[in-house]
Amino acid sequence: MTRKPIIAANWKMHHDHFTAIQFAQKFSYLLDKEDYERVDIAICPPFTDLRSMQTTLEADRIPVALGAQNCYWEKQGAFTGEISPTMLVKLKVSYVIVGHSERREIFGETDEMVNRKVRSVLEHQMTPIVCVGETLEEREAGATQGKVLGQVAEAFAGVKSAAVAPCVVAYEPIWAIGTGRNATPEDAQETIALIRGAVAEAAGAEAAEAVRIQYGGSVKPGNIAELMAQPDIDGALVGGASLDPEDFARVVRFGA
Ligand code: PGA
Repeated sequence: MTRKPIIAANWKMHHDHFTAIQFAQKFSYLLDKEDYERVDIAICPPFTDLRSMQTTLEADRIPVALGAQNCYWEKQGAFTGEISPTMLVKLKVSYVIVGHSERREIFGETDEMVNRKVRSVLEHQMTPIVCVGETLEEREAGATQGKVLGQVAEAFAGVKSAAVAPCVVAYEPIWAIGTGRNATPEDAQETIALIRGAVAEAAGAEAAEAVRIQYGGSVKPGNIAELMAQPDIDGALVGGASLDPEDFARVVRFGA
């Protein structure tokens, strides 16, 4: 099976709704039809940028999917400060990043919360980008495999195989995020192959073959090509290098 690569921008808490529009317009001029055909592209801006991004992408017919960086699992209610999946669907959001390590570490998201969010995002016909990854201490203690495979199993607990297949998983070693220190392509490949095995255990071989697994952590124009050359790496979740349209366009073109 050939899996179409997916490159997603995770802007984190950067770009307001004005600079987001400028980004979208500049970025679209840097790419051509073949780039869009070769790679699925998603941009996950802050919530406050979603509406202006949606109208810009639609008006200018830019074939870039919109993603959110988080959402709550309930449809509506007394949950001050939260954003519901139904609100995202109304803004034509297709992807939702779930369980990013910053949400887990800074905001205390647990595997159980990640699982609820994954199920809710899927129920609303959006695609979760499920983030997993180990800390430096865990890596040095030889605990990478146990940590990451546990996170995968918990994230997809109770999800039907057919619903797992279209999901995206992002393997992001925490020590590689925003540090300029990326995992070697071989290391990333090794862990990502194990993740595919964990998906097979949770949801069967067919789902594991279909699921797209990204690498994330200091991805930039200079290292994307060697990462994409690995057989199990199906794309990237890009933080810092996604903030500038030229850098991100080069990542989408695998460095060219
Ligand atoms: P980075 O972030 O590319 O800046 O390392 C990746 C991420 O956290 O998704």
